[in-house]
Amino acid sequence: MEIIIWRDEFSVGVAEMDQQHKKLLAMINRLIAEQKKLTDQKTIANLLTDMTDYADEHFRAEEFLMAEYDYDRKTEQEDQHKAFIEKTQSFCLAGNVGPNILSEALLDYLGTYLIGHILKEDMQYKHFFNKKGLR
Ligand SMILES: [Fe+2]
Repeated sequence: MEIIIWRDEFSVGVAEMDQQHKKLLAMINRLIAEQKKLTDQKTIANLLTDMTDYADEHFRAEEFLMAEYDYDRKTEQEDQHKAFIEKTQSFCLAGNVGPNILSEALLDYLGTYLIGHILKEDMQYKHFFNKKGLR
């Protein structure tokens, strides 16, 4: 997995969500970079925990907005967010992380999920929130 460079087409039209997506992307990029160094197990574990904690925080902020504005794809969003956290945790339990291990499969999943979710799912709220006056 290569470092993912943010592009304007990733923008979901809500500044706060873009900022959070950028931070999440930076945290995933930090993990991708770590695979080439494999500093030590504790560093890797901390990076992963921080990333999943932040993803959780971001998902809650996004779902809060959806609830506030009665967004009709809130359930689909919640399901996808939940699946991301669970899948990431199951990757970690299945030997994808360990001494000198940060598997390509895990990094591939993280990067692909984030970009796929932003482009396919989050992008669908762009027009909706913009119409509600959110920028
Ligand atoms: Fe989302």
